[in-house]
Amino acid sequence: MCRAIKEACGKDFLIDLWIAGEEEDEGGIRIEDTIEFAKLAEGLVDILHIRGGNINYCHPTGFNSVEDEPYTLHIARAVKASGSKIVVAAAGGYGDPVKDEAYIANGELDMVAIARQFICDSDYGKKIYEDRPEDIVPCQRCAKCHVPFERGPWTFVCSGNPQMGLVYQLDQMIDPPTCKKKVAVIGGGVAGMEAALVAAERDHRVVLFEKTDKLGGQLIHSDFAAFKWPLRNFKDYMIRQVEKSNIEVSLTCEASPELIRENAFDVVIVACGAVPKRLDIPGAWEEHTWLPIDVYGKEEQLGHKVVVVGGGDIGTETALYLAECGHDVTVLTRQSRIAPDATCTHYREMFEERWSQNDKFHFITEVQTKEIKGNSVLYVDVQGEEHTEKADSVVLASGRIGLVDEALQFTDAANEFYFIGDCKRPGSVQTCMRSAFATASRI
Ligand SMILES: Cc1cc2nc3c(=O)[nH]c(=O)nc-3n(C[C@H](O)[C@H](O)[C@H](O)COP(=O)(O)OP(=O)(O)OC[C@H]3O[C@@H](n4cnc5c(N)ncnc54)[C@H](O)[C@@H]3O)c2cc1C
Ligand SMILES: Cc1cc2nc3c(=O)[nH]c(=O)nc-3n(C[C@H](O)[C@H](O)[C@H](O)COP(=O)(O)O)c2cc1C
Ligand code: SF4
Repeated sequence: MCRAIKEACGKDFLIDLWIAGEEEDEGGIRIEDTIEFAKLAEGLVDILHIRGGNINYCHPTGFNSVEDEPYTLHIARAVKASGSKIVVAAAGGYGDPVKDEAYIANGELDMVAIARQFICDSDYGKKIYEDRPEDIVPCQRCAKCHVPFERGPWTFVCSGNPQMGLVYQLDQMIDPPTCKKKVAVIGGGVAGMEAALVAAERDHRVVLFEKTDKLGGQLIHSDFAAFKWPLRNFKDYMIRQVEKSNIEVSLTCEASPELIRENAFDVVIVACGAVPKRLDIPGAWEEHTWLPIDVYGKEEQLGHKVVVVGGGDIGTETALYLAECGHDVTVLTRQSRIAPDATCTHYREMFEERWSQNDKFHFITEVQTKEIKGNSVLYVDVQGEEHTEKADSVVLASGRIGLVDEALQFTDAANEFYFIGDCKRPGSVQTCMRSAFATASRI
């Protein structure tokens, strides 16, 4: 067929042929087959474009890939090492220009094929030309770009690029600023950092208040779980951008309405975030109960046998993290499956693949947790039968509450008041980035 295409279209018509370079299933393509194919395709195919064997390896996440070795690299390397003359491109998780340059320079491949990194940063190519790799917005591998219609009214979203899906109407949406304003942003989580960056970009004078000694808010958990490395890179990028900007950052400073009034801000944007809910059952305040966000970095303080009550994506991820730290963990959930809110198919499947390979990770679905009593958790199954699960420590993962009342205290602290991110409604990086951008770009 390639020969026929070349004959019909001429030899200058480039053919980029996509191939699954290695398949896990029995009878599937092996690397040796790909090498063989590369030899046969020489002269007929211009670019051999190597992808993962199954759909999850085509767009890997932190659950099924490590930071320094994109999945298809070993396949590309093998084809190159075989002496094949064909141009080898590899796809799936590339996008770090420094590493990609090195793969090419070392002869491990000839090209990288990139999709999500371009979605996440529309200026990706420009930043490479300008030799600014540190300014590239790292793709979080969250695959939210794959489920445009499941949540929200937007046609297309990206967690790292709040303008994605809106580009066609940005000109109508956003006017240039009319005057320089003094803007207070309260909260140094992702929503506050994005709002501060956008406002500073619009040449306002911005002060970012954070009551702890670090920027990052809830995203700080990504410093700990091995599978959260793409989110950690994104969080570090946001902090780096704030540090590089002319935003005045005031750490260990809990902003109050009085402080904002005293300093005569024109605008206050509150991004004070959300806190975990504590389940309203007997024993929920017992000493050995934990909230998910408090577990990260303190895993050694938890006992060996851990029960996580609540199987949403945060509960499930926290349980997986603890299981990877060596605890024996059981998730109890009312739902018929765990992590049902990890809606994106590709993301969920990869998440599931990782937890199903860990023998310290267990879950029990369709149960109602009734009480935490001493070193055990009582729950009732669908038949109404009571059971006990041993627990040296219990993690209560029953959702988050937006700090809306705290935010509303600032309503009259400046002429303009906005609240954004999780404090309005607990969400995700995508919802935080979108609400921060939509608000700050109109100030
Ligand atoms: C364990 C866990 C895993 C998660 N995983 C993901 C994920 O993989 N992908 C995803 O998209 N989302 C994830 N989320 C959700 C995501 O982290 C949040 O939606 C997002 O970080 C919220 O950002 P925010 O800026 O609105 O609030 P926060 O991150 O809560 O930040 C609010 C900040 O405001 C500060 N603050 C509060 N009051 C004041 C005050 N008066 N003065 C000064 N500072 C103040 C707080 O100290 C805090 O730093 C996860 C959440 C958790 C808990
Ligand atoms: C939003 C989106 C939609 C995609 N749709 C398809 C598709 O319909 N068919 C397909 O074969 N690959 C599809 N891909 C995969 C890409 O073609 C590409 O191989 C892959 O995303 C490369 O990995 P990267 O995103 O990590 O760079 C899609 C990727 C994205 C991000
Ligand atoms: S939605 Fe997530 S995976 Fe898709 S490009 Fe944006 S950050 Fe990357």
